[in-house]
Amino acid sequence: MNPARRDPDATSAPAALPAASATSHNLPRAFFVDPDIHRRDLERLFLGHWIVAGHVASIPRQGDYFLYDLGVESFVISRGERDAVHACVNVCRHRGSRVAIEEYGHCRELVCPMHAWTYAQDGKLVAAPNMPPDFDRDSLGLLRAHVEVVSGVIFLCLDAPPDVAPLRRDIEAALAQYDFAHTRIAYHRRYLCPANWKLIQQCFLELHASVGSFPEMCRVMLKSETAATGDPSLHRKYEAFAAAWQRDANRQPIAASHTTADRALDYTCRREPIRPGFATQSETGAAIAPLLGSQTASDGGFAVIRVLASWIVVCADYAVIVRLTPLEPQVTEIDVTWLVRTSAVEGADYDAPRLSWLWRANVERVLKLASDNQLGVNATRYLPGPFAADEAEIGTWVAWYLARLA
Ligand code: FES
Repeated sequence: MNPARRDPDATSAPAALPAASATSHNLPRAFFVDPDIHRRDLERLFLGHWIVAGHVASIPRQGDYFLYDLGVESFVISRGERDAVHACVNVCRHRGSRVAIEEYGHCRELVCPMHAWTYAQDGKLVAAPNMPPDFDRDSLGLLRAHVEVVSGVIFLCLDAPPDVAPLRRDIEAALAQYDFAHTRIAYHRRYLCPANWKLIQQCFLELHASVGSFPEMCRVMLKSETAATGDPSLHRKYEAFAAAWQRDANRQPIAASHTTADRALDYTCRREPIRPGFATQSETGAAIAPLLGSQTASDGGFAVIRVLASWIVVCADYAVIVRLTPLEPQVTEIDVTWLVRTSAVEGADYDAPRLSWLWRANVERVLKLASDNQLGVNATRYLPGPFAADEAEIGTWVAWYLARLA
């Protein structure tokens, strides 16, 4: 094809999904700019999939809550009686006001600001002023989303949820040594990225492979340096290092990826070694916070879990949750939370800038790469190009995405 000609697929209508070549080439432009596809992404992927809303460390006490907004939807995630975690739709059953307004809060009951209908943390309507005595309160509680807490991570799903059992099994196995449920928030950053969420997703999927794009990651992760340089001798060194790490009975890697037959659920879950001599993902390799869980020494590995468009990275001494939330076709929120052992004290046990060094760098590089990618995709001469061999994970994910969206 003459590259000067416009590719009709690059601007094709939302219904025109790519065919068999979907896994070999990137998506046409419509998937990164079209409001109708954006709406379908939200409805078919995000509202019908288990998504990471946050961590229980955000709501340590009964009565704590936080809001999670996704498109036009808003959820109140709260801790109720007996430590139960609830996820209610943040829409009053009277005339539809949002009930909770502040992003984070603490209250015994949720009171609607318009006419004071009052709800328990589990959504039950407990008071409705000026309504008749025979008023049926029981049928007018807040609507509820499905919620599951797995190793401290709060997952929610608005529509009929996929079976959570495999997800729970694999995450609990990968995080067993870290006691991830008993951590606290050490640092938090939120970014607005002027790019479609799928461009950001693709950048995160190649954190290990991008040539020269992630120098901090290459400095810490031998696997990343190996992939970025393409040096055969380094590759042999990494293979030997990874094999030795895996042979140790106490350092068994866990690798699981799962897609249900109806393509309703997509996640990956694995443990890998970092670099010889590195205890954690830090600038020097030395631990930068007290070890998590019952560990007495780092095994030199870390766990990385992706569930749809969120990443959970857990090292021996700290963890990071990266959550992507599509806001508009070309605007995505990147929410990043660092966690440490519950008893860790800032200043004495860890230093937030050192703790956040690697993943701040990674996220900020992804933000720049994805926003530049969006500008290129917006151009009239954008043509979806082929994936390289080391971009196979992106091709696999794109195939899953297309099948799920169809
Ligand atoms: S809209 Fe909530 S009490 Fe009226």
